[in-house]
Amino acid sequence: MATIFITGSTDGLGRAAAQSLLDQGHRVVLHARSADRAASLGELKSRAAGIVVGDLSSATDTRRIADQVNAIGRMDAVIHNAGVYTQPSRGATPEGHAVTFAINTLAPYMLTALIRRPDRLVYLSSGLHRGGEGSLDDLDWKSRAWDSARAYAESKLQVVALAFTLARRWPDVLSNAVDPGWVRTKMGGSSAPVDLDTGQRTQAWLAVSEDSAAKVSGRYWHHLRQEQPAGEATDPEFQDQLVDKLSKLTGVELPEA
Ligand SMILES: NC(=O)c1ccc[n+]([C@@H]2O[C@H](COP(=O)([O-])OP(=O)(O)OC[C@H]3O[C@@H](n4cnc5c(N)ncnc54)[C@H](OP(=O)(O)O)[C@@H]3O)[C@@H](O)[C@H]2O)c1
Repeated sequence: MATIFITGSTDGLGRAAAQSLLDQGHRVVLHARSADRAASLGELKSRAAGIVVGDLSSATDTRRIADQVNAIGRMDAVIHNAGVYTQPSRGATPEGHAVTFAINTLAPYMLTALIRRPDRLVYLSSGLHRGGEGSLDDLDWKSRAWDSARAYAESKLQVVALAFTLARRWPDVLSNAVDPGWVRTKMGGSSAPVDLDTGQRTQAWLAVSEDSAAKVSGRYWHHLRQEQPAGEATDPEFQDQLVDKLSKLTGVELPEA
């Protein structure tokens, strides 16, 4: 039995992965952005190994989320699932960051650095990451006109690069990225072709499976099969520059191996 922390487990793919892992007998630590949203967890609440609360658009809250997880204990796996899609404007978080970048990239980076190191890390990306190359000069959308689709694509490329950085720098940890496909959730909408159960399967499997196929690192997955991600995501120079910038923007250093 493994213990898994899943960000954004009040809805969609995160909630579905939590349900599936609980049904398999694992311990799951859930996450909600607020106490109100935690109330919507319903029967999952009583089955959870813990519930942590915090808004990932705030760096202060994100640090508190890491503290709450560490207080529960060491996780065997963390699924960095929470995310937002096309935001109408850049917006500004309490720290002044673009909202999409903060939730989709800065928060998984900070949680990776601040949560006690698990055995496995899984990052939710998207096939749309392939449209996100070339972001390093203006990660935080300070000099460009806002383009919501491009911002999403960049953030999803950045989490693949982050997953692969960890695979390289932390050889004891299995770190992978997943494209769940276009799934019927609040984000994906009702006309998406992929059902929730199919959409959650790969990340839940990577988090706990003892199959040798699941015990690999630095791979990009789609529906239980490995695929080739965008070139930048696999480029160690891009990965190192990205992590260096994330470290400076957050004031949080990625611990060495
Ligand atoms: N659905 C798709 O077709 C699709 C395709 C490719 C990739 N993905 C990726 O899969 C992941 C899950 O997507 P989904 O379709 O399940 O989305 P969803 O239905 O919109 O659920 C997103 C989850 O993240 C949480 N969340 C969002 N912003 C947050 C914040 N600031 N603080 C804390 N929690 C926050 C949401 O909380 P609330 O419930 O409070 O809103 C919810 O639990 C995302 O990373 C997404 O980019 C999805």
